[in-house]
Amino acid sequence: MLVPVFPMRTFVLCTLLSSLALAADPIRFLPASKTFVLDAGPVTSAIAINNNNELQPVYFGPRLWRDDDFKPAVASREWASFDLSAATTPKEYAGYGGGLFVEPCLKVTLPNGVRDVVLKYQSHEIKGDTLEIRVKDISYDLAVSLHYRVFPQGVIRKHAVITNRTAAPLTLESAQSGSLHVPPGEGYRLTYLYGRWAGETQMIREDIHPGVKVMESRRGNTSHQANPWFAIDGPEPASEISGRVWYGALGWSGNWRVAVEQSSHQQVRVTAGLNTFDFAHSLKPGESLETPPLYLGFSDQGFGEASRAFHRFQREFIFPGGLTSKPRPILYNSWEATEMNVNEPGQVELAKKAATIGVERFVMDDGWFGARDTDHAGLGDWFVSRKKFPNGLKPLIDQVKALGMDFGLWVEPEMVNPDSDLYRAHPDWAMHFPDRPRTTARNQLILNLARNDVKEYIFSALDKLVTENDIAFLKWDMNRNVSEPGWPEVAPEEQKKLWLQYTRNVYAIIDRLRQKHPRLEIESCSGGGGRIDLGILTRTDQVWTSDNTDALDRLKIQEGFTYPYAPKAMMAWVTDVPNFNGRSTPLRFRFLVAMQGSLGIGNNLNKWSTEDFALAKKMVAWYKGVREIIQHGQLFRLASPRDPSGFAATQYVSSDAKKSVVFATLHSQQYGRIVPNLRLQGLNAQTVYKVADIDNRFSTVESGASLMDRGLPLRLTGDYAATAFTLEAQ
Ligand code: GLA
Repeated sequence: MLVPVFPMRTFVLCTLLSSLALAADPIRFLPASKTFVLDAGPVTSAIAINNNNELQPVYFGPRLWRDDDFKPAVASREWASFDLSAATTPKEYAGYGGGLFVEPCLKVTLPNGVRDVVLKYQSHEIKGDTLEIRVKDISYDLAVSLHYRVFPQGVIRKHAVITNRTAAPLTLESAQSGSLHVPPGEGYRLTYLYGRWAGETQMIREDIHPGVKVMESRRGNTSHQANPWFAIDGPEPASEISGRVWYGALGWSGNWRVAVEQSSHQQVRVTAGLNTFDFAHSLKPGESLETPPLYLGFSDQGFGEASRAFHRFQREFIFPGGLTSKPRPILYNSWEATEMNVNEPGQVELAKKAATIGVERFVMDDGWFGARDTDHAGLGDWFVSRKKFPNGLKPLIDQVKALGMDFGLWVEPEMVNPDSDLYRAHPDWAMHFPDRPRTTARNQLILNLARNDVKEYIFSALDKLVTENDIAFLKWDMNRNVSEPGWPEVAPEEQKKLWLQYTRNVYAIIDRLRQKHPRLEIESCSGGGGRIDLGILTRTDQVWTSDNTDALDRLKIQEGFTYPYAPKAMMAWVTDVPNFNGRSTPLRFRFLVAMQGSLGIGNNLNKWSTEDFALAKKMVAWYKGVREIIQHGQLFRLASPRDPSGFAATQYVSSDAKKSVVFATLHSQQYGRIVPNLRLQGLNAQTVYKVADIDNRFSTVESGASLMDRGLPLRLTGDYAATAFTLEAQ
């Protein structure tokens, strides 16, 4: 059994809770109070059938142990003729109807013009750790099945299946995955991730005020600009180590929406799911729509434990292979060295050099296919350029493998350049409205993957590539967002389904490819971090965090990333300087920043000095010794790179608390301003640890108590100083 590492208090609580869990089923229906109790490890969520026969969320928080604490739920009264019961009663899955003025989960137009849905409880089914509650409109056979699953890490997954059981077609105008209600009150804060290309996952925290704050993507993918994750803390402010934090994330890589709302009666509620923008989904009689999953969790030990619990959950239940999957291999990617000027001798030269420093996977990036000499041509033509590789890829792959590495390849399957054989043959395959211009971005158009023939073509092209070549890994890129989302081949009322079907088909291609090639691994890239979410992470092994590989910028990008996502999935490369923002940082600093996730190297190795190779070799060897702790351990964010001091630190602790790794970086030093001792976390106070720095210049033997309370002295001087330590239980 995996024993999670928490401070002692939690450990005792968890042990107590796990013995309680033996006593009670994780999901129970209490007939007296008509309450569903969902226990997810240290978290309980409860949903009641109220006196109006509606589903009312009554609790989401720390684990409760006494079922009798739940009393029958009563709908709110009409506060005023302007605030009806429908709007003031918390609803688990609110239909727009009956006087609802807050965000609905479901909005429907029926063919007779009726636009009113009131959902009432019908039946339910509990099977182990899953629950299905069926609700139905009061007049029409419009049914919604609400599905729940509880996970031991304190996470609850929900999604809805909406079925048209009427005799006529209807149109869904909003189909959300679900909602979260925190205890009524004021003073809550919202934490979320915003950004831009080359500046993804920037963490921001702000007060929640009355009104609605919407985070969303209308771009056809997850987006660089916002990420489908949120956390709410309060009313007392939480910190990294204490306080109440509710969080949630959508598993969806298409248009998504998270609305955080504070009602006029101080109810903070979150509604999350498919974006309602340009959304209209017709359902014929008998048809259903299944929403993406929404994952919700809670921590009463601040943001740090909220992240760690979610990371543990991802490693076990989201990432392909789960707990059996190995740490990520160290990869080399030739993009920044050669860009599209790839050929066999040049790649072999780089591969030989990469092998000397301990790289395990060699990845050739863009430029190997079709007429791809610049970004003006070639996308769509997924056959090997005979000009660049006269004998195909086999000789290169053989040499890479002879050097002890496996081989990976870049693809951008969803795209087409107008200058390509594919586009010349199938101009109608690009997304477009027939009588309107087709907007190019990076000289490319986006294929309408919602079409079945396009989906089949892309699957076949990739399948052929992977079947004919010994490819262990694909870097799957997507370098633009959707414009002109037309689908002229289907009826106008069906065309808006493109948004949903596009993403479903991307998933379907990846799933089918992996099923047929079980050893194939995939990285999700969209011009860096444009497609990072729990939907893509259930089917890809890692993500390209950002095209921005500047180490200092990366510290903030990486910090934001780790709020929702586990460091194992976070690819971080060391690259050349000056970076594209003009900054130069020492190679050592770049390594120590990149080693805080899954390490990759993207330098032009032809330019490296003997000293660079020696340093890289040492760093890679050291990383191999600790990556298990970094990728499978618990992350503690000790000092934030957002702090104006310029000091940042992270710590990773193995599941048994016997090993730990610490990274500390200092952007710039002000003479005389000390960096205080770094107080560690997550250790066993009673255990004695041997501490050694990466340079073997400093070592000490100290108790966990001392390391956590007195802290570790740091000797960081100068600009871009960086160090790392290992801890090992004695
Ligand atoms: C995107 C990716 C890069 C690289 C280029 C190739 O920008 O994020 O890492 O693969 O495409 O064109």
